[in-house]
Amino acid sequence: MTSEDLLDRHRAVMPAWLALYCDRPLELVSGSGSRVTDSEGTTYLDFFAGILTNMLGYDPAEVREAVQEQIGRGVVHTSTLYLLRAQIELAERIATLSGIPDAKVFFTSSGTEANEAALLLATTYRRSNSVIALRNSYHGRTFATTAVTGNRGWSASSLSPLQVTYAQGGYRFRSSFRELDDAAYIAACVRDLRELLDTTTAGDVACMIAEPVQGVGGFAVPPDGLFAAYKQVLDERGILFVSDEVQTGWGRTGEHFWGIGAHGIVPDAMTFAKGLAGGYAIGGVVARGDLMDCLSANSISTFGGNPVSTVAAGAVLDVVLSRDLQGNAAKLGATLLTGLRDVAERCPLVREVRGKGLMIGIELVGPDGYAPDAPAAARVLEETRARGLLVGKGGLYGNVLRLAPPLNLSQAEADEGLEILTASLETVDRERRS
Ligand SMILES: Cc1ncc(COP(=O)(O)O)c(C=O)c1O
Repeated sequence: MTSEDLLDRHRAVMPAWLALYCDRPLELVSGSGSRVTDSEGTTYLDFFAGILTNMLGYDPAEVREAVQEQIGRGVVHTSTLYLLRAQIELAERIATLSGIPDAKVFFTSSGTEANEAALLLATTYRRSNSVIALRNSYHGRTFATTAVTGNRGWSASSLSPLQVTYAQGGYRFRSSFRELDDAAYIAACVRDLRELLDTTTAGDVACMIAEPVQGVGGFAVPPDGLFAAYKQVLDERGILFVSDEVQTGWGRTGEHFWGIGAHGIVPDAMTFAKGLAGGYAIGGVVARGDLMDCLSANSISTFGGNPVSTVAAGAVLDVVLSRDLQGNAAKLGATLLTGLRDVAERCPLVREVRGKGLMIGIELVGPDGYAPDAPAAARVLEETRARGLLVGKGGLYGNVLRLAPPLNLSQAEADEGLEILTASLETVDRERRS
């Protein structure tokens, strides 16, 4: 069975909107550490790690052993009708790590469900279905979460259980306020938020939901302090703030354990998923106790926080915290940002290199220095693949390369990835100019 046969079968039976990377899509069949091998026997350094989810790379021993031990006991599922020790312990840790006062945690199996849960809590608490989201956001694939997704390419339906208005600010590079300096940019965004609340809502808004660094939106980073300034306005009006930490949590941004830490505020709720269990399915919401407890009906997630995922998550957190992987993300992120900014100096194709920690976006533009160049991003993916490196892409127009390697990446792997990226970007830049 070749990859081509498998691709034909994929196309026949999978949805057309389930996008695959590369001209010849890969089947990844085995892995160890930051490296993964495809069905043709080629091994790659992986700088996208299952979309930030294989947070400790492939087959970390600590996680494998914890999962094997749980499976060995014969219990992979009991439902939440019974006490789940690993789930309770994980909730206690996340509640403490969140910094949210009297925090409680509800586990789901995905980030989408986590955001659904947070939106259910906020809209019930505030008795309003009015929500502020950000332009260029991504929050999931269900009706409520696509409704708060401010990205045409990922919002497949206009049907919505929510009244959503989109604030400015997440994606500075293509914002109407892009020429302003940090302080002026924040002031303009805040003025716009006030105007938006006064003109486009009935006033009783439930919450703002935002990603501290927009993930699918191309690792777009607003100036530090934007969300603190937004929260001041929200607090004046009793509006809740939900930070979507699905991509930014667990120290990935290097500076802080949660992405929102860069803004010096504690949200009313945070949602998480992706890397927490190193690839096992888990998501959740951590919220102020009174907010979490506001539902007057029962609610349950059958698979959310199941014994296998929660022991895996406990093992992942042990490694992240005991080995200071947040510090590693800060250190290696700085290496990559510096190296890539050097490349940007000599390659006009690369207009902006941005990010925090091991969450780096490379915005590629046309000869005018501004028009998004999505075909160039696709070309770079082919070039890095040919040289043995997997990277991601995204952004509102599909023209942003995304780097999000495992948090336990080594210095040597960071250097190797940087070398491949440099050669690949230079090749595509040269091609375009010839
Ligand atoms: C910021 C953010 N929120 C929510 C989600 C949805 O998570 P899931 O795909 O696990 O449903 C994603 C997925 O990419 C995400 O990046």
